[in-house]
Amino acid sequence: MSLFDNNAICDLLNIQYPVIEGGMAWAGSPELCIAVSEAGALGTIGAGAMNCKELKEAIEKVKTQTNKPFAVNFIVFSPSIDEQVEIAIKSEVPICIFGAGNPERHIQHLKENGVKVLSVCSSPNLAILLERAGVDGVIGEGLESGGHVGDVSTMALIPAIRDCTTIPLIAAGGIFDGRSMAAALALGADGVQMGTRFLCSTESTISDSYKNMIIKKDVRGTHLTGEKLGHPVRVLKTSFTKKVRRLEEENPKKAEEMILGSLKNAVLEGDIKNSSFMAGMSAGNIHEVLSVNKILETIIQEYKQTIRSLNN
Ligand SMILES: Cc1cc2nc3c(=O)[nH]c(=O)nc-3n(C[C@H](O)[C@H](O)[C@H](O)COP(=O)(O)O)c2cc1C
Repeated sequence: MSLFDNNAICDLLNIQYPVIEGGMAWAGSPELCIAVSEAGALGTIGAGAMNCKELKEAIEKVKTQTNKPFAVNFIVFSPSIDEQVEIAIKSEVPICIFGAGNPERHIQHLKENGVKVLSVCSSPNLAILLERAGVDGVIGEGLESGGHVGDVSTMALIPAIRDCTTIPLIAAGGIFDGRSMAAALALGADGVQMGTRFLCSTESTISDSYKNMIIKKDVRGTHLTGEKLGHPVRVLKTSFTKKVRRLEEENPKKAEEMILGSLKNAVLEGDIKNSSFMAGMSAGNIHEVLSVNKILETIIQEYKQTIRSLNN
């Protein structure tokens, strides 16, 4: 009997380890998705910044290079969401994950076409609505996460969602090693989702300067931009993001203009002066760039050790 026999996420998604690569607009490349799926977890194409042609090509690339399950992550309010969902169905994508909202009107359609559906939420209320709408599992995302965040920590959110839903639950936000994975499962999650840890992998296609910035930060090295604009986003602290935060008070329109395209700059150029390097608090716990295989091997090993030491 292996460690994750009877694990709800492994059974649902047909994967070896209950670990999901968080969908990441711009950063969730086919290359990273392939590496994660091949290593036994669930790789994810981040469709957030892709047009329909780019999405089709990304899916095609992943399907030609791995036979393992993978997911596509969509942003619910994307203007081309209907077309993107049809592309996923036609391309026989096995799993769709939705972020930033309630994907209610797509769920039954996807499920009737054999696609598993997961959705991200940052509150127990949304988790209840998603369960009623028929998703196969929910991803509870705490405020430690990189990217767009809610206002509840992973520590408080996961037990709260566990207590009000019965479907498989994945914890996201601040998970980077076997100890944090064990903690998430102790809180009631069946599996974990990681973004920042996978950003700092050899196979991640983001700029080297982005990876180096993550490695150099300590656990206080992130803060939120966009809080005053109604869409808080966790980013690495830089002089650019400090300026954005000041402008949110003084000149919100200018702050919005500065943010526009700033993640793309980080991923493609690594231009420190004009970029938002989205990353979670766990940037302070990540000290080196490792291969995806090494990341997963280490996490599972540490997870086993942690469980064993708690049992002693
Ligand atoms: C650069 C970046 C981009 C992200 N883009 C998305 C996205 O497009 N859709 C989404 O659902 N979540 C997005 N997220 C959130 C991740 O999927 C994941 O839930 C989060 O990174 C988990 O927290 P961690 O960074 O502490 O591991 C993004 C995160 C990062 C760091």
